[in-house]
Amino acid sequence: MNKVNSTYLLSRVAIVFLFMSSFLITKAQSVVIPIESKQNAMVLQVTSEKRLAMVYMGNKLSDKNEYSSIAKAFRLKDNGSGYNSAYTGSGTRNLLEPAISVTHTDGNKSLDLKYINHTITKLNDDVSLVSINLKDSVYDFEVTLNYQTYFNENVTEQWSVIKHHEKHEVVLNKYASANLYLQADSYWLRHYHGEWAKEMRPEEEQLTHGIKTLDSKLGTRADLFEPPVFMVSLNRPSTEDEGEVLYGNLEWSGNYRIDLEVDPSNDLRLIAGINNYAADYVLKPGVEVTTPKFVYTLSDKGKGEASRNLQSWARKYKIVDGNGPRLTLLNNWESTYFNFDENKLAGILKDTKELGVDLFLLDDGWFGNKYPRNDDRAGLGDWEVNKTKLPDDIAFLTKTANEDGVKFGIWVEPEMVNPKSELYEKHPDWVVKQPQRPEYYMRNQLVLDLTNPKVQDFVFNVVDNLFKKNPDLAYIKWDCNSVIYNAYSAYEGHQSNFYTDYVFGLYRVLDRLRAKYPKVPMMLCSGGGGRVDYGALKYFTEYWPSDNTEPVERIFIQWEYSYFYPALASSNHVTNWGKQPIKFRTDVAMMGKLGFDIVVSKLSADELAFCQEAVKTYKQFSEAIWHGDQYRLQNPRENDVASIMYVDTTKSTAIMFNYLVNTRYGAGTNSPIRLKGLEPDKRYSISEVNLFPGTKSTIQDATYTGDFLMTVGINPDVHEGRTSVLIGVKEQK
Ligand code: GLA
Repeated sequence: MNKVNSTYLLSRVAIVFLFMSSFLITKAQSVVIPIESKQNAMVLQVTSEKRLAMVYMGNKLSDKNEYSSIAKAFRLKDNGSGYNSAYTGSGTRNLLEPAISVTHTDGNKSLDLKYINHTITKLNDDVSLVSINLKDSVYDFEVTLNYQTYFNENVTEQWSVIKHHEKHEVVLNKYASANLYLQADSYWLRHYHGEWAKEMRPEEEQLTHGIKTLDSKLGTRADLFEPPVFMVSLNRPSTEDEGEVLYGNLEWSGNYRIDLEVDPSNDLRLIAGINNYAADYVLKPGVEVTTPKFVYTLSDKGKGEASRNLQSWARKYKIVDGNGPRLTLLNNWESTYFNFDENKLAGILKDTKELGVDLFLLDDGWFGNKYPRNDDRAGLGDWEVNKTKLPDDIAFLTKTANEDGVKFGIWVEPEMVNPKSELYEKHPDWVVKQPQRPEYYMRNQLVLDLTNPKVQDFVFNVVDNLFKKNPDLAYIKWDCNSVIYNAYSAYEGHQSNFYTDYVFGLYRVLDRLRAKYPKVPMMLCSGGGGRVDYGALKYFTEYWPSDNTEPVERIFIQWEYSYFYPALASSNHVTNWGKQPIKFRTDVAMMGKLGFDIVVSKLSADELAFCQEAVKTYKQFSEAIWHGDQYRLQNPRENDVASIMYVDTTKSTAIMFNYLVNTRYGAGTNSPIRLKGLEPDKRYSISEVNLFPGTKSTIQDATYTGDFLMTVGINPDVHEGRTSVLIGVKEQK
């Protein structure tokens, strides 16, 4: 289990205690703990019976002293054990959904956590951590609640650390990360469902009394059916620029559970954490369990600002190299599938150079000898280079790539195994399966048991050996295509710890890899966008939103992901899915991280010239797309034309993407679309970019003030004859 580094903690506690004692002396009767960011405050308060209650979440107050009057203003009952508990226990007075539920060593199931003390640590100018210690009054059982706030980004991460000193093991029947309490007249939840190629389908509905649960029981790629992201608007559905809205994501790549309970007082109780389904966690005395972080942001200016909060936080603090560049690439999955050899790949490396992208990404099919990986039925787990396809090893490819002046990357799926593999033959006990029941497969494969340290070493070595043998390797696509059926570990002493320890095992491997290879770009993939969450993105530079690359579908999928994740992390590939022209497909891919997965030699001369130019145009605007602010201008679900723009941080360069999503007669942009995020007083030139060779823009190059562009707007003139239009905006000095 994750153990907190005790030396680090001790030194920190020493530094911060001063804060705490002065605070407590002035507030001896009622401890009030405001946790503030630039715009918001969350207020916790200790009740007369020493329970910790959450009394407020909303805009912060100018006078801190007034936080102590909030509980009275909302007429909150002074119990802290039920509705507004900051970490709701069970088996005592609370009768609502708990955040924590335990079975003590003696079989007793009660828990009543009381406030002991708290510390406030300023980690740097932007980040501070409030840690609150709670303890049961009967059992030697403790929980520390942690709230880490990113002041400028208005983002908070919340998690708990649980431990006990009872005689023997204690079973955690539920062990949530966060327990929030919000007050409004009504609550509007936007959440997502999906399946392969149908990722991120939203539903927005008013929450009624009772509990709405979002969860996953899939084991690995948790969000294939239901991603762990959501938003809740308060009082009315929020729009891009108006309304109060909370975004949340559990940073966990396994089974999660988020309960949203409108309680008898019409307040919203939100409990987020690891799913306790089949996952009672057996905890030894003296050992700490650190739950995953639940990250959230609150905005009173609508969905756009909430997205920008989360995106800038993710770039700065979470995603690997979030402020760095990204590599454009050519992938060979859809152009060759498993059918390639050295010569074909050498040709694709030349195509990579011709296209003008940075890297060639070799996909699935390069490994396995006794059971060659010539389709998805064999070879997974046997990570030796296939001698028939690649007689001169990977070294031949890195060498050829060097000669061609491009980089080289490779696909792996190291957590998985085909039953038809040498790995399975040698180590059947490394495979997750029920010993007494028939095996059941997703894509002909099974999952390796990452709770086992030997398996962790194996998975680490798959990637480490690739780097050791090929120091020029510049990119990894890390796939994960199967869910966990027949959850059983031959290694675990307590089967119910398996689902949770699997993810801790995965993170241990990724921690080791990132310690050794801190910056190498890695794509988080999963046969469709089945594994996107901030727990995993901590180790990756980008993610794969969906195997569905049909561009109209992609507009909708990328749109929904854009609420929660920054554009530079969205791997968008131009493929041959769908009937749209190459311009439309490329324009759609350019709204995130651009890649191609096409047969370059089959492009016409004009198509190739267009793609080459597009790569150059993309580089011109990449600073705005990767690190700038994103503004969704027109939603594809409500308009004929989807429109989104990015403005760089100096507000001097912007790009606006417009796509026709309705094929009905006359559909298009009939009036101007207002731009956002520009400087009103600056003058900007606008011109259409990414034109297909031989076509002329219907938009005249012109110069306007930011004020004009944001008040009146511009009409990109999208219609059935011009289905996608990109407008470049540049400051005139
Ligand atoms: C998954 C990925 C694809 C490709 C294949 C290879 O489906 O999403 O992009 O890598 O695996 O088997």
